[in-house]
Amino acid sequence: MSSSRTLFLSFVTLAVVNTASVAAQQPTRQGTANTFKVVGHSGVSAQQVYIVDKVENNQVQVNGHPAWAVEYDLATDTIRPMDVVTNSFCAGGGVTGDGTWLNLGGNQAVTWGGNTADSQTGGSAPYMSVDGGRSIRFLTPCDDQQCQWIDDPARYMTTRRWYPTLENLPDGSLIVLGGNQWGGFVNDAGQNNPTYEFYPSRGAPVGLNILATTLPANLFPFTFLLPSGNIFIQTNWGAEVFDYANNVEYTYPNIPHAVRTYPASAGNMMLPLTPDNNYQATILFCGGSDLEPDQWTQDWDIASYPADATCVNITPDVSQTWNDDDSIGQGRTMGNMIGLPDLKVLLINGANTGVAGYGNVSWARGHSYADNPIRTPLIYDPAAPAGSRWTSANLPESTVNRMYHSGALLLPDGSVFVAGSNPNPDVITGAGVAYPWEDRTEIFFPWYYDKRRPEPQGLPSSVGYGGAYFNVTLSKTDLEDKPANIKNAKAVIIRTGFSTHAFNMGQRVLQLKTTYTVADDGSATLHVSQLPANAAVFPPGPAMLFITVNGVPSMAQWIMVGSGKIETQPTSTEVPLPDSYIPASEDSDGGSSGGDGGHNAAMANVQINQGLIASLMVGLFATLLGATML
Ligand SMILES: *[C@@H]1O[C@H](CO)[C@@H](O)[C@H](O)[C@H]1NC(C)=O
Ligand SMILES: *[C@@H]1O[C@H](CO)[C@@H](O)[C@H](O)[C@H]1NC(C)=O
Repeated sequence: MSSSRTLFLSFVTLAVVNTASVAAQQPTRQGTANTFKVVGHSGVSAQQVYIVDKVENNQVQVNGHPAWAVEYDLATDTIRPMDVVTNSFCAGGGVTGDGTWLNLGGNQAVTWGGNTADSQTGGSAPYMSVDGGRSIRFLTPCDDQQCQWIDDPARYMTTRRWYPTLENLPDGSLIVLGGNQWGGFVNDAGQNNPTYEFYPSRGAPVGLNILATTLPANLFPFTFLLPSGNIFIQTNWGAEVFDYANNVEYTYPNIPHAVRTYPASAGNMMLPLTPDNNYQATILFCGGSDLEPDQWTQDWDIASYPADATCVNITPDVSQTWNDDDSIGQGRTMGNMIGLPDLKVLLINGANTGVAGYGNVSWARGHSYADNPIRTPLIYDPAAPAGSRWTSANLPESTVNRMYHSGALLLPDGSVFVAGSNPNPDVITGAGVAYPWEDRTEIFFPWYYDKRRPEPQGLPSSVGYGGAYFNVTLSKTDLEDKPANIKNAKAVIIRTGFSTHAFNMGQRVLQLKTTYTVADDGSATLHVSQLPANAAVFPPGPAMLFITVNGVPSMAQWIMVGSGKIETQPTSTEVPLPDSYIPASEDSDGGSSGGDGGHNAAMANVQINQGLIASLMVGLFATLLGATML
């Protein structure tokens, strides 16, 4: 078994990948809770975190030209340049059920300033880039610094996609949606690609009506695989449930208050799926911009325009109703939502006015179409009563502006990696530049970071759909010397996804069902179900498994969810969990109220397929996009 830990991140794209089979016990990086710390340089504008940038004049060289991708080593905060041959500008990304990462689509070959190069086949200095519009770049993460992106024209798509979205499917394949042919600030009918297709290919692209009717702000459509097996799609003001298996679109009411997709770029995320919510998916959108379709293409000072401060949520398998959720108070564009192992949601990065994108126009700030950066994150608690879900309490202000083309990823130690920012057509720096190219990497340390971490024993290397539960043991020390704290222990699976343009494609957080048995010596066994017997709840592929006690997470164990193959996933009947047991003598203080549900033996369970797994990637891909306003 290998032991590498890899994340992907890029100014254009970020992803975290890991192949570790044994979790570390405590964080190796020193960090103080509720602080930011600048830790290194990404060389391109984003541990291994794999970072993929657009083609631009980065100092880091590879094979005789500026590099636009690196592997970032989280242990040493150093980089290894990687040669991505084609222009990965505004690519989409995702990981398949067998742990292969894809970085898909992009822009033409360019020269200085993002201008089209004379040669589209790699002949134009200084970048020597190749047209990336139809490219699919493959990476199998490694821990020996030898892996490379594979860019094979024989495996390209048949149509061009700049700003496509990738979504994980229950069989471990990926669906690819949308994008346009030649880029630009927003989409237009002349170059729209209102279709979807699959990887691995299931044939020619098929038309998708919502992408034809939601111009112009429908690039990087937001997609969420629902437990029903359908996909919720939100783009520009539109929304629908898409039954991709039967090619049927069910139109939903428009999203209220604001455009959420790029370039409005609202924070968005499927909230944690838990036993308490019966694994029903609720999707939260916060911020963005309330621009109407005709306002995107006029030449006016968008950078001064206030961003939206509303939040709305929807539970699409249950209802077509949009619900107002607690406001974020201060309008924010390009806020990036990151699911944390304590089942809360971090909203980080972005700006208070304007939108994503850039251009060489008089009203831009430098080239940026956003202004008034917001350097303080917020945290949302889905379990809190309405009116008190968002907090900024104790949260620090970063010293670094994270504007267009920045990204964020959860790391296996529970901290959050932040990188990128370059709302410019090339590497542009200097004292006079409003928002220069930025390659400082930074870590946000949440409230639990410097607490002693639980050190669970017996974590599996894979988790399947239904079947027998597994046992994880926690010492009395892990329970903070109060065995009743086992009532507040949780098993949480997180896929960080591919981070780009202020959202993480494929991100998902799920709490497994658990019960417990407390022993006479004050240690405890946590009985943990496998996933529900439905691969649409958490599609197969690599993910991180955390055990939390009172919200404090263990170091993550990398697991493979499912069979490790792209195939119809095996499912089996859930074996019921044993009843919870705690000796009366231990059942006093500690274990404060409530726990989290899921302690009821009647709840289903999960089975674990011990022993699979080979490589896991937690992909945090942060992709940053640069658009040129036309
Ligand atoms: C922006 O436009 C100005 C004036 O036309 C030009 O001098 C400059 O090179 C342009 N910047 C970029 C990055 O192309
Ligand atoms: C898990 O613990 C229960 C209760 O202590 C026990 O009956 C069961 O055999 C254990 N299962 C495994 C796989 O060790």
